[in-house]
Amino acid sequence: MVGKVKFGLIGAGNVAKYHMLSLSSIEEAEVTALCDLDKEKLKEASEKFKIKRLYTTHQKTIQDKDIDVVEVLTPPHIRSKIAVETAEARKHVIVEKPMCRSLKEADEMIGAASRAGVKLMMAESYVFTTTHMKARELIEAGEIGEPIWVRSIRGSWIRKDVMPRAERPDFWSYSWRLDPIKSGGGEYSFFFLHNVHFIAAARYLMGSDVENIYAMPKVREAERKDEGGVARKEIVTYNCRYKGGEKFSAFMDFGFTFHGGKRIFDHLGFKTVVSGTEGVIEVFGEGGGPMAPGQERAPLVLHKEDKTHLFKIDEGPDLVWLSVVNYYNQAFKN
Ligand SMILES: NC(=O)c1ccc[n+]([C@@H]2O[C@H](COP(=O)([O-])OP(=O)(O)OC[C@H]3O[C@@H](n4cnc5c(N)ncnc54)[C@H](O)[C@@H]3O)[C@@H](O)[C@H]2O)c1
Repeated sequence: MVGKVKFGLIGAGNVAKYHMLSLSSIEEAEVTALCDLDKEKLKEASEKFKIKRLYTTHQKTIQDKDIDVVEVLTPPHIRSKIAVETAEARKHVIVEKPMCRSLKEADEMIGAASRAGVKLMMAESYVFTTTHMKARELIEAGEIGEPIWVRSIRGSWIRKDVMPRAERPDFWSYSWRLDPIKSGGGEYSFFFLHNVHFIAAARYLMGSDVENIYAMPKVREAERKDEGGVARKEIVTYNCRYKGGEKFSAFMDFGFTFHGGKRIFDHLGFKTVVSGTEGVIEVFGEGGGPMAPGQERAPLVLHKEDKTHLFKIDEGPDLVWLSVVNYYNQAFKN
């Protein structure tokens, strides 16, 4: 393609800011148009990123003849419809996670893109963090032998500015996140929305698909306004068996954990551990870092033959979370 690739973004909320930030740092890309139903959000985001072409309907954005790629950054309930219409207009389409709400919607999206001969990309940011990409590179180079276990830990999101999220009405919207239909996750709405990251990262590192899964739910206490103010059902732990051998993964959720009105486990960040037949890789994610005091902080650690190798990844600090890795916005840029 000659010249810049022109993007039209549909949805100008929380995640759109990081997409715009990343795209504006890429020479070959340009955010040509922005769309949101909410005129206030549209105004705020467009002024910040100096985007002039603004739309309040997704149809107008898709029809804009200057746009090459449409990014669908809306809540999930409207995603497959917009993606199908975009593909039918013969434009490439990138969608945020979760891809959609059902296999039927996924098939419709894939079918539309394949009939139109356009690209459909699922922007799963966890498989694009530099650390997870590096971990996969080490696995493919045989550094830990055969990967047989992946352990994913979800910790607390700890913001850099330590401002409680309850005081940040802009932070993110719980109105659709806790809506069984709009989020697509039924009674486990929030789990469905966020957990796709861990499942995607585990499959990516394991290089294999899940054969069966055993999950356990818990009712989460609702003590913070910013978590929607209602108790919600969550899956707090699950185990997967993978196709093609004795390979397993486990997920443990220590995030937002309240016990008797007190928040606990705040010290744990997000972490992915891959154990292989000849070594172990640890990836520290959002809010992550080694727990032992005085231990050197590195976003990726390889343990092999009684030696520990630290991988320092120099891509600047995380813009949002207190993390040893730049999650926002490097994954979007990658
Ligand atoms: N990859 C990540 O790390 C990451 C992080 C945050 C959110 N997300 C995903 O991004 C998506 C959006 O999340 P968010 O936090 O930005 O939500 P948000 O509520 O902040 O923003 C969504 C925006 O979409 C707009 N919208 C809704 N319907 C629309 C329509 N028909 N046409 C145009 N605009 C419409 C809303 O007005 C809102 O401004 C979700 O699927 C979420 O799971 C991904």
